[in-house]
Amino acid sequence: MTTKTILRALSGERLPTPPIWMMRQAGRYLPEYRATRAQAGDFLSLCYTPDLAAEVTLQPIRRYGFDAAILFADILLIPQALGSDVWFVTGEGPRLSTITDAAGVAALKPADAVHDKLSPIYQTLRILRRELPAETTLIGFAGAPWTVATYMVAGRGTPDQGPAHAMKAADRAAFSALIDRIADATIEYLSAQVEAGAEVLKLFDSWAGSLKGADFDDFALAPARRIVAALKARHPGVPIIAFPREAGPRYVGFARAVGADCVALDQSVDAGWAAENVQSDGCVQGNLDPRLLVEGGPRLIQETRRIVQAFANGPHIFNLGHGITPDADPDNVHRMIEAVRG
Ligand code: CP3
Repeated sequence: MTTKTILRALSGERLPTPPIWMMRQAGRYLPEYRATRAQAGDFLSLCYTPDLAAEVTLQPIRRYGFDAAILFADILLIPQALGSDVWFVTGEGPRLSTITDAAGVAALKPADAVHDKLSPIYQTLRILRRELPAETTLIGFAGAPWTVATYMVAGRGTPDQGPAHAMKAADRAAFSALIDRIADATIEYLSAQVEAGAEVLKLFDSWAGSLKGADFDDFALAPARRIVAALKARHPGVPIIAFPREAGPRYVGFARAVGADCVALDQSVDAGWAAENVQSDGCVQGNLDPRLLVEGGPRLIQETRRIVQAFANGPHIFNLGHGITPDADPDNVHRMIEAVRG
């Protein structure tokens, strides 16, 4: 029997105090992160330098004692491994070369090319398994194909994922081929993460909310189901968290439909509603509004307690509804943890 609380929650156990970690827990709100990032020079160098990536992964564990550490890397490393140019513009975000048609998809490298480029990421995981406290769970991750595709098609983040929707409308076969190529690479990459020490995997579909109707089925649900099935066949004991952000009513039954062990909820869904309609299927993760870590004060405490209460009758991992922002106050994170555990 495992004593790691995250693994217990993921196996469906209701715990008196929910385990807790935070999306983007290693990040710019922490002065020690900013110092290590400066030492690395830039964001991508930080991702590809195992000692430094492990260091920033460990920083929030040392400061806060979270129940899980999430590998420090980025969802845009897969496009880079498949042959896209990827760079980050400070203060603006990611930039990529664009893929707009079938020829662009055909020019991508095969799935197992990920291992050439991404072996430093596996090394980060090996370091972390050695360095993490015995009670801390190590989470590996990748972006879900739709979300990754939105960046590969547009060449940057977009408010409405317009370019990806346009390619899907113009040539659905070519767009589906892109989704398949990303899914194949994701299976190889996540499988190698498990071999390097990841104990849980999370699939981030940050832009799932912009897929409606049959598009949601074809490009959010089906690829996640295929990735989960392949990983469960290779690594049956490894739990998987799916995060179809802003899926709204489509959160209902999502984990079961894709074969995941847990679904992560964003802050736009009410915890009471989700306890009744989503947690009835198994473990849920979420869903404090990250803005409350900027705001602080009584609302931070009240909302944290309300979420813990709402999910108290079933398996729950406390987390934010999305990543913590650079303007958050590190002391508010202590206050949130105290409200969960205290
Ligand atoms: O602590 C962790 O959560 C682990 C590391 C992690 C990062 N990105 C580090 C990061 C994880 C899990 C991600 C996932 C990721 N990356 C997603 C999915 C989750 C989400 O936020 O919706 C997406 C869409 C990306 C792509 C990405 N990476 C964008 C759009 C940006 C720029 C926006 C921003 O916050 O600056 C990044 C950069 C990034 N990834 C940073 C970090 C800590 C900031 C980079 C910096 O230090 O300047």
